[in-house]
Amino acid sequence: MRTITLINGDGIGPEISEAVVKIIKASGLNINWELQTAGTDVIEKEGTPLPKRVIESIKKNKIALKAPVTTPIGKGFRSVNVQLRKELDLYANLRPCKNLPNVKTRFDNVNIVVVRENTEDLYAGIERQADENTAESIKIITRAASERISKFAFNYAVNNNRKEVCVVTKANIMKLSDGLFLNSFRAVAQDYPQVKTREILVDNLCMQLVQNPAQFDVLVLPNLYGDIVSDLCAGLIGGLGVARGANIGEDCAVFEPVHGSAPDIKGQNKANPSALLLSAVEMLHYINEHSYANKIENALYKTLAQGFCTADLGGTCGTKEFSDKIIENL
Ligand code: NAI
Repeated sequence: MRTITLINGDGIGPEISEAVVKIIKASGLNINWELQTAGTDVIEKEGTPLPKRVIESIKKNKIALKAPVTTPIGKGFRSVNVQLRKELDLYANLRPCKNLPNVKTRFDNVNIVVVRENTEDLYAGIERQADENTAESIKIITRAASERISKFAFNYAVNNNRKEVCVVTKANIMKLSDGLFLNSFRAVAQDYPQVKTREILVDNLCMQLVQNPAQFDVLVLPNLYGDIVSDLCAGLIGGLGVARGANIGEDCAVFEPVHGSAPDIKGQNKANPSALLLSAVEMLHYINEHSYANKIENALYKTLAQGFCTADLGGTCGTKEFSDKIIENL
């Protein structure tokens, strides 16, 4: 039986984790979940929202399913999410964005995979106050990281039957930094002649995405553009309650929804478990449990198609009722 680290998070994390674990169990797949608590609920006891044991557990098991964790504001703790990505070198942020049945959006043919570089760019956090009226932030782009993320995007395309990878930059203005990202992409593309390539500037991409998103397949972007564009794409398919995600490195992978800990609906049986469930579906594909992944995704789709959904999608189901319907449909 496969052991997987489960970080059940805080806020709505424990409720949606419970629902997802129950659904996976009902699918017939046996997983030995190694529960690791993290976030605000453990600070008092352990002095940190991300105890070492959590990192060690993921390093040992290589795979984790993670519910959201609150970043305490103004208490000096670094974001658990940023820390995890750094410590485990989870360099690729993957967000597949695909329409779901009965989730009404402006377009019904979106099927985009956003691949975001997760380790550098303006997120390197190198800032200084040059003088009282001037702040500087340094954008770091390296050939190694740019080639690594391009390879990841092409491999994803090949392994998932995708036809095109589109690189997104602003290389017309940032000729050196974004130019390096673009040139690294071009170099890597030579090794994947079977995949079509496209190059687009990020401003044009945003306009095209809100007018005709169906034209895009796999997008690969530096960190900052990737952060913004992946939220735009989540909006195209119905928003936070259904947006799945993963952070993937050479050794470990952490699967987590895009949304946060939603403290406003904590403990009220209102949270939509779909985003965490779909992140788990990605995880099952990653560990080659394709049949269980498809079975669970189909049960979710069937449940939505029957008109059942949580309040964020305009429905009347609570977390528990919605999960029970999915289990009925498995
Ligand atoms: P949020 O995503 O928690 O909530 C934004 C809005 O969406 C709220 O109205 C919330 O009720 C709703 N929402 C989110 N997920 C939902 C779900 N599954 N079902 C139904 N409604 C849902 O974003 P917010 O409020 O900015 O952040 C809250 C906390 O979460 C912060 O401490 C933030 O740092 C943390 N956070 C953690 C992330 C992670 O662990 N990966 C990611 C984003 C934020």
